[in-house]
Order: sequence, then C-alpha cells, then structure tokens
Amino acid sequence: MTALQQSAELFEQLTGRAPDGIWSAPGRVNLIGEHTDYNDGFVLPFAIPHRTYAAAGMRDDGRIRVVSTFAGDQPVEVALDELATLFPTPTGEEPAVAEWAAYPLGVAWALQLATPSTGSGTTRSGTQFKGVDIAIASEVPVGAGLSSSAAIEGATASALNDLWDTALDRTALARIGRRAENEAVGAPTGIMDQMASMLGEPDAAIFLDCRTLDANLVQVGIAEAGLAILIMDTRVQHSHATGGYRERREACERGAAIMGVPALRDVSVADLGRAEKLMDDVTFRRVRHIVTENQRVLDTVTTLRERGARAIGDLLVASHASMRDDFEISVPELDTAVDAALAAGAIGARMTGGGFGGAAIALIERDGVQAVSDAVTADFAASGFAAPHIFTVTPAAGARRDT
Ligand code: GLA
Repeated sequence: MTALQQSAELFEQLTGRAPDGIWSAPGRVNLIGEHTDYNDGFVLPFAIPHRTYAAAGMRDDGRIRVVSTFAGDQPVEVALDELATLFPTPTGEEPAVAEWAAYPLGVAWALQLATPSTGSGTTRSGTQFKGVDIAIASEVPVGAGLSSSAAIEGATASALNDLWDTALDRTALARIGRRAENEAVGAPTGIMDQMASMLGEPDAAIFLDCRTLDANLVQVGIAEAGLAILIMDTRVQHSHATGGYRERREACERGAAIMGVPALRDVSVADLGRAEKLMDDVTFRRVRHIVTENQRVLDTVTTLRERGARAIGDLLVASHASMRDDFEISVPELDTAVDAALAAGAIGARMTGGGFGGAAIALIERDGVQAVSDAVTADFAASGFAAPHIFTVTPAAGARRDT
C-alpha cells in the first residue's frame, strides 16, 4: 500500500468516511549551505521524491483531530480555540501534546494566527475555522536529516489552507511551518526545509536567500551529466529540539554581535582575519564555517550554471570538512560515509541537514551506484556501525493537492 492509500485508509478508520482530499509535501536534501539559513544566508536544497500525505476532511464542530502512522494510530484531539492554550511551548520544555502531534496542531495554530479572524471563528475571507480531521502517513525516513518534519508541516498547511480557504501563498505556508516547528515543537530551526518542501520542482534545486526569501530555481542536470545523488542514511538519530543545534545557533548570534552586524550573512570571507582577533577560538570557528559556507553556496550556483554538476565536487568536500572541523556537527558515521564514498570514486560528498546524525549525500557516476553503496556498507561494517540505508534521489515536486 502506498503512503497516499495509507493516509486515506487511516482517515476512514478514524471517521468512517472518505476524506475531502489528500495533500502531500516532500522531504528534502540540501545540496549545500548548512546552518546558513538562520544566519540570513544562502542555501541550495531540493525536494526529494519521498512524501508525507495528509488525508483531511472538515467536521461540523470546532475541534481538530490528528492521527498518524508514526504513533500507533492513537489520535490526538483538541478544540481549535484550545490551541492557543497549548502553544507556544515554553523554551526548553516538551510540547503539551505528543511531539509528532505538535507539528500538525502547531501548523493549525500558526495558520489561525496568520489569518486574523474577522469575528468569532471567521477568517479574513469570511470562512469559518471549522473543525477538521487529519490522517498522516509518511514515506520520508524520520530522524534521517531529510526533513520529515517539514513534510508533515507542508502537507498539513496545504490541506488547511484549502479547507479553510485561507488562500496563503507557498512562502506564507513555509513560514507557518517554521513557526510550528520553532514555537509548538520547540526546535529553533531556520526556514530552509519548509521552503524546499513547499517550492520543490523536478530537476531543480532552490537557491534561496534566507534574508529576503527570494527563491530561484537552479537546474542541477544530474541525469544529463550521467550522474546520480546517493543518500547515505547513517541511522544515527538526531533531534534539533535539544542540545547541539541550539548551541550552534547561539554561537552564531554571539559571533554576529561581536562583529556588530545583524547576522553572519553580513560578514564576508575578507572579514575573517578581523573576526579571528575579536573572538575566542570556538566562536571564531563557528563563524568561519558560516561565512565560508555562504560563499560556497554562491560558488556552487555559479559553477552549476556555468560548468554543470560534475564541477561542484570540491565545493561539497570543502563543505563537509568545514562542518566536521569548524562547526563540529558531524559524527564518525557521517565522516565514514563521506570518506568511503570519495574513496570509491564519488565526485563529491558531504553530510546534509542539521548534523549530529542523519544522512550524507554523494554525487557519483550513475553506473557507480552499486560500487559506492557496497564500499560504504563495507566500511560501516568494518567500523562496527549498524548498516546504513542507501538509496538514490532526484529533485522532485513540492507540496500539492493529490486528490
Ligand atoms: C535543520 C534545520 C534547518 C537548517 C539545517 C542546517 O534541517 O531544520 O533550518 O538549519 O538543519 O542547515
């Protein structure tokens, strides 16, 4: 059964009827530009074929009920006007509902806040915020750094935007997803994942300026160049609601304050000498990663446009080294995946996503998929790591209504 069918079936089990529609949104990988999004910088992600489906339908009361295949099919139900008592989740605390449910319920909460009511229970367009049932099924691996969370947010936001007739555009829906993640789930992430999931297009990466949210599609031409992109999911689970991610973000904010700028986007590679004199070693290395990574995104976009995908390998490798040595967000499994892929002939490889686990990507010859996969699997076994999950991806479509 496909995830689309699973969402429909789950909906019918919950409600005894067919859904009004099914909406979906994809996970993403980031080609390059890591931790630059919350520094107002540049990123170059693309949506992947793996999607999360939300089968949804209106109900006559003002309640919202969500159910998902992640959670033993246990529904969570609240009154819509109770959402404001659940969220925002205080910093450092667990959400008041099961964490998976904080994503869709957080989206409903943020969507209501983004569309101020014109009276009791009505939106700007005069539509009532009616009750809704949502059943979620996903094929995006969870905890793999492939934005399973943005996929839930994108599918839910798209469903509610249509059912509630709120007529928000894709960028507004991406912001709503991020708000749910930041304030309902409590993960201090940037906007990259939600924008990639909303705006994805087949064969293209999204060159996003995270300050202006100006997005331009860049053709990656992977297939034309005879290449493939391999995902190497280390199966080391990570969470961005806790620990390292937040600390890195704080170090970046400290670095920007020391440099007297609103965000590290405003520091250039030429400023790094001055930065080094002004800050402690750890803060400086965090800053150096962001500043050089922003430049690598710009260089990757130019290189893709002028010379094609085959020419970006060194930029990917430099990005990984910077995350491993300066930003210190890699783990031995990610380094092993990258090193083994390169040793087996990959053109470039790097960890992707927030780090501390999750997946790495490798840009490889299309006929090298088996050899590189075998080499990575063998090195994992030799290092005593659990077997990685390895598969290829191509850039895919963003959020949409499926039925
Ligand atoms: C996670 C976050 C993103 C981004 C990446 C790192 O995926 O959700 O906002 O910060 O990490 O680039």
